[in-house]
Amino acid sequence: MTEYEKYIRTAELLALQKPAEALVCHDELAFQVVHQVEELWMKLAMHELGLVRQYMDADRLVEARDSLVRVCEIVRLMGEQMRVLETLSPRAYFTIRAALGRGSGQESPGFNAMLAAPPPLQAALKGVLDRRGVELLALHRDPASDPEVFALTEAMLDLDEGFQHFRYRHLALVRRIIGGRTPSLKGAPAELLEHGIKQTFFPELWLVREALFRDFMPGPSLYGDDDPPSGAH
Ligand code: HEM
Repeated sequence: MTEYEKYIRTAELLALQKPAEALVCHDELAFQVVHQVEELWMKLAMHELGLVRQYMDADRLVEARDSLVRVCEIVRLMGEQMRVLETLSPRAYFTIRAALGRGSGQESPGFNAMLAAPPPLQAALKGVLDRRGVELLALHRDPASDPEVFALTEAMLDLDEGFQHFRYRHLALVRRIIGGRTPSLKGAPAELLEHGIKQTFFPELWLVREALFRDFMPGPSLYGDDDPPSGAH
């Protein structure tokens, strides 16, 4: 075995896919590999997000932002890789689906870990803001008042937007392969997945934009009278 094979552990890695003779159809290897690759990226993203939090807690904001940029790149790739499966015909998917049993993407450990990632990061951001005496709305009125914190919040928003994009790419794939209204194991998938796309990791960073907009464009709220200017944290 070469040094490369030993270090990358290629033998184990390449034994994790069904052998050619066990595939239910030619396309099943693509289906399995893309899912495995996505799980690996999510493992790495979670590893990096742990570091982001440590940096934030230690007020090392430039490093926190750098690590977030890496996570954003990973999430961007995760969305793009969905396109590999857009080359699957619906017919091929049905063959694979029949062999899948009751397995669902909702059981993805990587995805569920990603969904659980925001609360600790929100808490870390709150800690940063408190320690530096920064208030989100004031920061967005004047980003130059604390450029490091502003750059960090922008990177957090990039991650949020990137993850929504990934979820949208998955929905586009689902519509293409099985159609938008086909019932699945867990109900109407398009509805479920559309709901997911509307979820945000850092709602306060989105709301602060609405509050800022109201600053610059005073007048009746588009969102109703009791809508709080909740950009302020
Ligand atoms: C041919 C390709 C694919 C099809 C047709 C498909 C189909 C679906 C459907 C119908 C659902 C709704 C829940 C259910 O009925 O199980 C779902 C959920 C999900 N799938 Fe896929 N999927 C595909 C590829 C992928 C890939 C490559 C990933 C890799 C990450 C993935 C991850 C997920 C996740 C995480 C969910 C849960 C999403 C949520 O709850 O918001 N899927 N998928």
